[in-house]
Amino acid sequence: MLKQNHRAWVEIDLAAVKHNVRQLKQLLAPSTELMAVVKADAYGHGCIGVSQAALESGATWLGVATIPEGIQLRNAGITAPIVILGATNSSDEIGTIAEYRLQPTICNPKQALVFHEVLLEKSAAKLLEKLPVHLSIDTGMSRLGTNWQSAVEFVRLVQSLPQLEIASVYSHLATADDRDQSILRLQQQRFEQVIADLKVAGIDPPRLHLCNSAGMLTDRQLHYDLVRPGLALYGLYPAPHLRTSVDLRPVMQVKARITQVKSIEAGTGVSYGHSFHAAQDMRIATVAIGYADGIPRGLSNQISVALHGKIIPQIGTITMDQTLIDVSAVPDAEVGDVVTFLGHAELSPDLNVDKWAEILGTISWEILCGFKHRLPRICINQPDLVSYQAISK
Ligand SMILES: Cc1ncc(COP(=O)(O)O)c(C=O)c1O
Repeated sequence: MLKQNHRAWVEIDLAAVKHNVRQLKQLLAPSTELMAVVKADAYGHGCIGVSQAALESGATWLGVATIPEGIQLRNAGITAPIVILGATNSSDEIGTIAEYRLQPTICNPKQALVFHEVLLEKSAAKLLEKLPVHLSIDTGMSRLGTNWQSAVEFVRLVQSLPQLEIASVYSHLATADDRDQSILRLQQQRFEQVIADLKVAGIDPPRLHLCNSAGMLTDRQLHYDLVRPGLALYGLYPAPHLRTSVDLRPVMQVKARITQVKSIEAGTGVSYGHSFHAAQDMRIATVAIGYADGIPRGLSNQISVALHGKIIPQIGTITMDQTLIDVSAVPDAEVGDVVTFLGHAELSPDLNVDKWAEILGTISWEILCGFKHRLPRICINQPDLVSYQAISK
């Protein structure tokens, strides 16, 4: 719930999450499942609200990066299968995974044996069920996983370990958002080779998966039994050329309040380093949000914001907790007014994450994940959910 005393916040439209999941589901064959990738606090959107919305609209799996992220979802009462997409190795981690019924990624034979031994010890103490595991095959990302050429021996080994149950075999795409599909097709070819080799070895994994958002928007042939979109859930396209197939709605808006309005004379320098000087007399306002909240300092003097429906420039260097804007075109601007930094396209095509990423020479994923927890996440369009912060307390 938005309060008058919120200085700055992130607004999360859970109806947009649901819309995006439904749109993405339309691309899938009826038997293909959707794993909502909600790692990094759902890319900064608040993992509990987003997970609930995604599960309500057709996702059947959740993907996180770390064990604490999985625990947070379990503690919120979420019972859907949760896959840890990052690597886990220590005996403590393995115990926690089993306790919270999380499903790990196993990347290589050594890790599989460690899991098996730790679980064997635990099951001697109290009988545990087999642990569902997801086997990562490296087809070209060179990050996690056993190289595709050794995939069959790896899968065969895991199959022989009575404490583990193979829930899926998967790989991850390195360049699916490139227009040039050559590496994508090479990875696909290698994955197909693994599937064929497994077949010859008489191994039929229950699920195969390969796609992130870009892969799933590129080609249905890549979908296999399950897809793992992250970015697309949040309403963003991995690349402009992938905008064609579905209509996605951005989920996040970032807003903050004006804390002071004043007039300055022509020639006055503004903010640290005086990177902006007033060309004429002007009205400026201070807004209570800065780089410590996740507005990148590199955007200084390069973005616009919205106030009272008007698009106006940000001026001067963005500081840790405060940012200045030119309100000369908004004579009734006053303390307490809400300024939109990231907003919907109807407001302006410029107040969006893709624009910021372009200015900074980075990717939209990094901007989304940059919003800090001191900004409360306010869920909108979801009357049965209060703000994410209230839930997580
Ligand atoms: C293994 C894995 N699958 C899926 C995703 C989702 O990727 P995207 O946000 O590009 O859809 C990620 C994110 O980096 C990932 O690491």
